[in-house]
Amino acid sequence: MTNRITVLGSINLDTTYHVNRMPQPGETIAASNKTSAAGGKGANQAVAAARSGASTAFIGMVGGDDAGQFMRTALAENNVDISNVFIQKDIGTGSAAIILNQQGQNSIMVYGGANHEITPATINQPAVIDTIRNSDFLIAQFETPQAATLAAFKIAREHGVKTILNPAPAKEVSAELLAYTDLLVPNETESEALTGITITDAKSLAQTGAHFAHLGVHNLLITLGSKGVYLYQEKQATVLPAYKVQAIDTTGAGDTFIGSMTAQLKPDFFNLEEAVNYGQTASSLAVQGLGAMPSIPTAAQIAVAQAKNLTSTDA
Ligand code: RIB
Ligand code: NA
Repeated sequence: MTNRITVLGSINLDTTYHVNRMPQPGETIAASNKTSAAGGKGANQAVAAARSGASTAFIGMVGGDDAGQFMRTALAENNVDISNVFIQKDIGTGSAAIILNQQGQNSIMVYGGANHEITPATINQPAVIDTIRNSDFLIAQFETPQAATLAAFKIAREHGVKTILNPAPAKEVSAELLAYTDLLVPNETESEALTGITITDAKSLAQTGAHFAHLGVHNLLITLGSKGVYLYQEKQATVLPAYKVQAIDTTGAGDTFIGSMTAQLKPDFFNLEEAVNYGQTASSLAVQGLGAMPSIPTAAQIAVAQAKNLTSTDA
């Protein structure tokens, strides 16, 4: 069965500056290269889901500029349904300026632009409601307004659609939005921003899981970058180590993980661990390529890597 996934989220055109090291305040340094690629957390997650075989639809907004046209085309070419990607004429399409150093680490500045114009009224249109209703999973992040996400999650809950929240980049979240969240996927920093608990060991992880469960979130994945993923479900904490690979560009790796993983999820998250493993394989491939959207692997590429991982002795 193919999962039907709707992503409500951001659409950005990314510009990456390649440098030897990050500039200091007041300093000017030369970039050795400048590249441009499709990105935005929402768009990356949708393309990851679609390339992993899910039937994927997007809810979002672009500006009336060339970047907006480019991004709508990029989504459509990846089999993402863009009938609910709206165009706001008088504002720029979201964009990100990324500084990438030789270790594959990045610093990112995001201009929200049209992404910030999404409101509950955008969500409460018949065609958008229909799209949400006809999904198995609805995914959202924090690059688009939380009021719209809450409106969408309420519709999802009403129709038995499971909700996945990636609270990135780190921001405060209303208790109400968490109460409508079925699976929360923060990284360590974002988790700490939401709970005040620094995760250092099994005990602090269990405290974090209990904290979110108390707020109504019963499935939790905390991504740890090269250290792997913490899974907390039914009071059980599991650490799933990451595959060791040489990272070239980690931009969008977390997005690839979420989108690909969701394509594999079964109802009620009963195969969460297996889906996480699939998502980890996908993101281990994504970090080995340049650019957010261009480096997201397909189901066929992930299958090859999974077969290799099963037979490799040092995994
Ligand atoms: O998560 C990666 C994404 O964050 C980039 O594609 C950039 O657009 C920023 O939104
Ligand atoms: Na990459």
